[in-house]
Amino acid sequence: MNTTLRDNIDWVGYVDWTVRDFHGYNTDRGVTYNAYLIRDEKTALVDTVKAPFADRLLQSIAALTDPAEVDYVVCNHAELDHAGGMTRVMEVLPNATLACNKKCEAVLSKHHDSSGWKTHIVATGDTLPLGKRTLRFIETPMVHWPESMFTYIPEEKLLFSMDAFGQHYASSQRFDDEVPLCTVMEEAKTYYANIVMPFGRQVAKVLEEVAKLDIEMIAPSHGVIWRSHAPAIVEAYTNWSTCRPKPKVLVIYDTMWDSTGRMARAIHEGASLPGVAAELIHIRSSSLTRIAAEVLDAAAIAFGSSTLNQGMLPMAGAVLTYLKGLKPVAKAGMAFGSYGWSKGGPEAVDDYMKAMKWEVLREPIRAQYRPTFEVLDECRAAGRLLAEKAREMAADRRAGERLCVDP
Ligand code: FEO
Repeated sequence: MNTTLRDNIDWVGYVDWTVRDFHGYNTDRGVTYNAYLIRDEKTALVDTVKAPFADRLLQSIAALTDPAEVDYVVCNHAELDHAGGMTRVMEVLPNATLACNKKCEAVLSKHHDSSGWKTHIVATGDTLPLGKRTLRFIETPMVHWPESMFTYIPEEKLLFSMDAFGQHYASSQRFDDEVPLCTVMEEAKTYYANIVMPFGRQVAKVLEEVAKLDIEMIAPSHGVIWRSHAPAIVEAYTNWSTCRPKPKVLVIYDTMWDSTGRMARAIHEGASLPGVAAELIHIRSSSLTRIAAEVLDAAAIAFGSSTLNQGMLPMAGAVLTYLKGLKPVAKAGMAFGSYGWSKGGPEAVDDYMKAMKWEVLREPIRAQYRPTFEVLDECRAAGRLLAEKAREMAADRRAGERLCVDP
């Protein structure tokens, strides 16, 4: 495995091949926790790994240098997948000074006994000379946590971007040109949707800072390193952070005795117009992770649930609760669903859409017990309405930007 980014700059992280759950995120392709060692007149480690893998990280460091030679441990992000191993690392690297921002120091002190650590506090614009190279720090609050930070080496045109531009993708290869690009982009999009989407405005600000840097390589904290396709992932982030919609309609539903399922299929049939990608998603045959990724660039969404106990089916509620937290904007929507002796399912969906400030195109479509031919015709017409709206939103390339970036 080639782990060398530049002369004397090496990946020393850990590939977690078998993990399939990352606080609810389905990591079907595993995860990597990336850490990097820079050897110059001074030696710096950028980030650590999850606690159980700290000794593997230390073995990788020891294969390259005497642990006593490590002068700095940079912490770009205090979340435990990157800083969980910090206690062990600071114990084994006897001469290391922790370099982090003030907020990061505060978070680290809650998770670790940091009382004996030497700490060097940095802020945006501060630099740390290593010899031929310099570390320059850029705070990136809320991408992903308040203390998040990028570290940039101008002499190498190399950006350590922490969670940003990352992917949950275990691979024996370390670089974007050594693996299928479509797979990497799919995982980067899934990562953005499930981790970064709530922070679109902050991402847009960070991208403005990134645009000022001369960058050849982006080394995130997860997944492969962007060596050949850095401009492509920056452009993708620009689209995702501004919620630029595609001409795409999702019909997402859960159903009890297939009445809502019949309605979903009729809506999907109506939405399947030329030039429009219409996708039918049965919630219990999919996952929260996959649904969030599909929602990210969809323009219009029909969401359906049968009525259970005067509300939604539980998994429909779980999806909407999850989406509400992720704050997808610039969406048009409509609710649908069946009921028996009391209403409640589609009405609860409609409430969620309004709470998320989606443009609700019409009143919920309801069917009592079984959708009639008339109701199914109404569903097909609603599908066409959503598809036409999706085309219109995708054509208006600033639609998402206005909703996402304006206060
Ligand atoms: Fe990969 Fe926000 O931690």
